[in-house]
Amino acid sequence: MKIAVVGKGGAGKTTTSAVLARTLGRRGARVVALDCDTNPNLGLSLGVGDSETERLVTLREEVDEGEGAHAPTWDDILDRYGADAPDGVRLSVITRIENPEPG
Ligand SMILES: Nc1ncnc2c1ncn2[C@@H]1O[C@H](COP(=O)(O)OP(=O)(O)O)[C@@H](O)[C@H]1O
Ligand SMILES: [Mg+2]
Repeated sequence: MKIAVVGKGGAGKTTTSAVLARTLGRRGARVVALDCDTNPNLGLSLGVGDSETERLVTLREEVDEGEGAHAPTWDDILDRYGADAPDGVRLSVITRIENPEPG
């Protein structure tokens, strides 16, 4: 199951996403939370803390700058670019790549 939470700024997307993710995680689902916001702060609502939220954003920026290692599989992406959040949720920041290179 894939759930996308969209809406205007301040509508409650981040709060709703975090509650959904943690509720499903508590019920035993394998939950991957992808923060696609241009201002990615889902980590704060999920409970991973300031530094871990910032680390994920930095990792994402490194990909844009060509510094991130290529992750060939989905599991590799989550392994290298993700963080464990409470209730078994795995969080990653997946915003649009600004300067994609061929391939
Ligand atoms: N169901 C709700 N009832 C009241 N306040 C809420 C609710 N959901 C979110 N908020 C509050 O509204 C503000 C914006 O929520 P947020 O989840 O950050 O929105 P978004 O991610 O869409 O910008 C926050 O201060 C949040 O605590
Ligand atoms: Mg938000």
